[in-house]
Amino acid sequence: MRILGIETSCDETAAAVVEDGKKLLSNAVFSSMDLHAAYGGVVPEIAARSHIEAIMTVINQALDQAKTSWGAIDGIAVTYGAGLGGSLLVGVMTARTLAITKKKPLYACNHVEGHIYANFLTHTSLSNYELPAKQPKFPMLGLIVSGGHSQLVLWKDHFNYKLLGQTHDDAIGEAFDKVAKVLGLPYPGGPSVGEAAKKGDPDSFKLPKAKMAGKYDFSFSGLKTAVLRVAQELAGKSHDFPSSGLSELLSDKQKADLAASFQKVAIETVVDKTVLAYEEFDSKSIVIGGGVAASPELRRQLAQRLPAKLLQYTDFKLMTDNGAMIATLGCYKAVLKQPTADPYSLEIAPNLSM
Ligand code: KG4
Ligand code: ZN
Repeated sequence: MRILGIETSCDETAAAVVEDGKKLLSNAVFSSMDLHAAYGGVVPEIAARSHIEAIMTVINQALDQAKTSWGAIDGIAVTYGAGLGGSLLVGVMTARTLAITKKKPLYACNHVEGHIYANFLTHTSLSNYELPAKQPKFPMLGLIVSGGHSQLVLWKDHFNYKLLGQTHDDAIGEAFDKVAKVLGLPYPGGPSVGEAAKKGDPDSFKLPKAKMAGKYDFSFSGLKTAVLRVAQELAGKSHDFPSSGLSELLSDKQKADLAASFQKVAIETVVDKTVLAYEEFDSKSIVIGGGVAASPELRRQLAQRLPAKLLQYTDFKLMTDNGAMIATLGCYKAVLKQPTADPYSLEIAPNLSM
């Protein structure tokens, strides 16, 4: 079973071929991130235009790298939500067109589910990929932490899962990106805040951890605002002073301390809930996905508080957005006879939830 996966929900144009839900044959990604860096975040119109320009090149790269012709492809999987409307449209219309013209079944995939399925890849002939030796076991706890999502999900089996909790406001990656802006650090904020935090003291500022009514829910907007308030106070400015003018008034030491203090609390917020869910549901595997899963601080805290044998991580390149995670999910949809999508009518679902 060979599935071509197509992913265009945000700023990565990505395609990959996966075999039998575990073997990575190719992984092609073109990112328009550099075009957005100047704006401090993804600009939807620029992302959509870039997808149009890149998508066929990326799909052909994925097929070439997998040494696979269209005849050997058993189906096409595509992200239809959640994500930016214009970006999703390019991937979905391309997948619909290819499904019709190449006469392949079409599988509509949820982006967030895809992030978790990246963890099912265990084999590859590609160089520079470090994959886990074994697939995760059910019940499986999935923590999705990205620029658009912060969710904790319990999988009892394939296609049988329960959303335990999610963010009520900003996603955790979004909070990293916004804090980076306040501190004058480059986009994307996750890696740059993480880098600055290395030189800072995580206990220098006491920042609030949100208390939520839902046992497994998160919130990051109060934490983000608390960082802004501390930055304004350090700069000797009032609370209406614009965030864009703060970074030049702060010393490198103050920025590093604030980055470290923020990162510690943001990561603790998701790790606390993951530990609670592990204790309640007796999960056999804990997997993480999404861009923030690449955070060394997240891995450090998880390793400190959860049994090592339950934790396994996929390659960093498969944690940020990619086509392989969608192709893997598509393989399971095909093998487990999940419904196919109609290539003449599949629509995008920008606000798709789990
Ligand atoms: O999954 P992803 O590539 O795209 C979305 O679906 O959002 O995640 C992007 C997010 C950004 O907010 C970025 O700042 C964050 O992931 N990120 C990180 C790291 N690398 C990327 N956050 C913390 N530490 C990192 N090393
Ligand atoms: Zn993502």
